Parts: sequence; structure tokens; C-alpha cells
Amino acid sequence: MSLSSEERRERLVDLYQEVQACTRCPLHETRTEAVFGAGDADADVIFVGEAPGAEEDRQGLPFVGRAGQLLGELLEGIGMSRQEVFIANVLKSRPPENRDPQPLEIEACRPYLFEQVRLIEPRVVCTLGNFATKLLSGNPAGITRVRGTPQVHELGGHAVFLLPLFHPAAALRTPAVKETLRGDLATLPGLLAGPPPVPAEPIEAAIREEEDAAAAPQPDADQLDLFG
Ligand code: URA
Repeated sequence: MSLSSEERRERLVDLYQEVQACTRCPLHETRTEAVFGAGDADADVIFVGEAPGAEEDRQGLPFVGRAGQLLGELLEGIGMSRQEVFIANVLKSRPPENRDPQPLEIEACRPYLFEQVRLIEPRVVCTLGNFATKLLSGNPAGITRVRGTPQVHELGGHAVFLLPLFHPAAALRTPAVKETLRGDLATLPGLLAGPPPVPAEPIEAAIREEEDAAAAPQPDADQLDLFG
């Protein structure tokens, strides 16, 4: 399903309103503003962070604090801007004291993120840090192991490149992490300009195909000669 820009915006506005009214987890009791996400509804790239911090909670916008400023600078370094991407989070409400998201909160909020990906239909989803990477890859491997190598996943009904990246907040704390993040982000333009993501063949289908091929009668040597 590919939506027109207008339909996409209408559906995102409906989803935005649903998120504003959301009471699916206790975080709605302590948040100031739900943070839906922001950017270009037709973006080719979605960045997914962890959860709103204090400033995001006050303004109702994602990545508006120091980590967001760094993300903007790093994007400019590869000739891109925040305006041309979409930025969202795993959680739409701030966890008190910026503690880690809890499994029940992630579970309650995940339909919103998957619906955002389904509606926006990006080519690349950049996951920032462990929580977004584990949720969207469906793999418990930590960010230090998987960062920088694009994976292909089917998300929201279509194939995307998932590019796991260090979280900019970690980059603010450690200069070496910042340089790694800068280097990994530099692969993004290539993913946008190159061939589209092709989903890996499901393993069971590949095994079945191999078994079928092994069971099929083999042409004899004479027949093979016919086709050079
Ligand atoms: N960190 C996040 O993960 N998300 C934000 O929106 C801000 C900081």
C-alpha cells in the first residue's frame, strides 16, 4: 500500500491525536506533553530514539535538547537536515527521572511506532541506541555489536534498511562514541542512493527450495551439453 502525501498526513494527524489522548501506560499520569515525533511525513529516513527527556516533555517535540542538537549537527555533516527526516521515539511519554523504558511501557507504545513506520514508508530506519534497535530488529544483540551495519527488515508491511547507530546522548558523554556515530551516519547517503532494500528470503522457504531442487530428477550429461 502506498499512500498519497495527503492521505499520509491525514492518517498521521489521526494517530497524533490518539497519542495525545493515550492512557495505555502509567506514564500518561506524569508527562507534561506526549511527544509524537516530528519531521517530513514523506521522509525517506526515520530516526528512532528512546524516549522524551525533560525538554522534549516540556515542548512536546522530539530531540530538542543537547542530544537533538548533536543529531542536527551530525546530519548537517552529511548534507542533510532535520526537516527532511522524521524523528520519533520508542516511548511517546517521558519516563520519570529519565529512567530506562520498562517492558510494559514499550509494549503499550509499540503499535504507535510501527504505525508511524507503516504510514511514512521510509527506505531507512536509523535506530538510536539499544532500545530502538532491539525493538525494531527483533534481536536482543546490543548496539555495540550491531552498530554501523545495515540490516534489511520488513517493517510496517514493507522492506526497509535498518541502520543501528549509537544514541547521540552516549556520543555527548564519550568523544570516541561521537566519532563512531559520525562515521556510521556517513553510510546513510549511500543507502538512500543505492538499490532498494530486498527482504531476505525466509529461511524455511530457502530450505524447502533446496530440498525440492535435490529431489528433482537431474538432467543427464547429454542434455546438459545441449545448453552449452
Ligand atoms: N533522547 C531520546 O531518545 N529521545 C528524545 O527525544 C530526546 C532525547
